Amino acid sequence: MSSSMSFQVALNFEDGITRFVECRPGETVAEASYKARINIPLDCRDGACGTCKSRCESGSYDGGDYIDEALTDDEAAQGYCLPCQMTPHTDLVLRIPSTSAAAKTAAATHGATLAELRRHSPSTVEFALDVDDRDALDFLPGQYVNIAVPGTDQSRSYSFSSGTAQRRISFLVRIVPGGAMSEYLTGRAEVSDRLEFTGPIGSFYLRELTRPALLLAGGTGLAPLLSMLDRMARSQVTYPLRLIYGVTTDQDLVHLDTLAHYAREIPGLTVEHCVADPTSTAPHKGYVTNLMDVGTLHGGDTDVYLCGPPAMVEAVRGHIAALGVTPVNFHYEKFTPAAVPAIAGAA
Ligand code: FES
Repeated sequence: MSSSMSFQVALNFEDGITRFVECRPGETVAEASYKARINIPLDCRDGACGTCKSRCESGSYDGGDYIDEALTDDEAAQGYCLPCQMTPHTDLVLRIPSTSAAAKTAAATHGATLAELRRHSPSTVEFALDVDDRDALDFLPGQYVNIAVPGTDQSRSYSFSSGTAQRRISFLVRIVPGGAMSEYLTGRAEVSDRLEFTGPIGSFYLRELTRPALLLAGGTGLAPLLSMLDRMARSQVTYPLRLIYGVTTDQDLVHLDTLAHYAREIPGLTVEHCVADPTSTAPHKGYVTNLMDVGTLHGGDTDVYLCGPPAMVEAVRGHIAALGVTPVNFHYEKFTPAAVPAIAGAA
């Protein structure tokens, strides 16, 4: 989404708030951030002190000039970088070692119109929004927004199920009795309603793939993985990728056609689903962990992305530990129906 002469740099802060800046040719990340009025940590601005040291999670760049005291060769090899010196060669994703508040910035608020409302089943609703200023909204695949529930003083967190380049953004919602968003979506919602949301937020986003990956979804935790699959389909990934999608009952299964589509589009991808309900007609009954053995984890040479309810996240972590395997990266996001905000982590 960068214009021809500049690169887009995502600044992901410790609190998950993410801001995007445009970096022009020859401009350092620090200069571009300063122009956008985002005060990332800086002191010497000369590659000497190390105050700005950040971690680059995606993209390539020229590291610039600096001394060993600011950044060692080992750190540089691990992906650490100095925003006061670095100039991008591609779009970048950086983890900035401060909160958004400390950088005097915050998540942006966007207005939008409800464009589609699709009731997949009694348990699951999908809705799509047309954002007023879509060009001003950037996000990383896997991130979420806080949406104000119309007619209430409450907001709820939902991950984008749409790809980052799609004009219309969409979300999957598990219907829970008495839930603020559930009651709105199943009761009062009408196409053309106005909504507001803030974001993007979250550290559960797709990193550059450099090894096999295992994607695990529980229920509507499929949403952020759909956004990641869109990115993978566009980026010619060739590593083995496996997605396992688990739900409670057959009526919770959504987007099987979309998953089948991605399994055809993305060369290394295999997709399976399982249903816990023993009366299910699905080929696999039980939990996602039933489908995971040491081979699934490539002996540890794998990145795991897991989004689901807390009990599922804990079950998967326990299962992986019991297999005696430690994945290179383990990114997860737990959600509960009324979770505000979602809880993300990495282990
Ligand atoms: Fe001192 Fe970047 S601000 S090394």
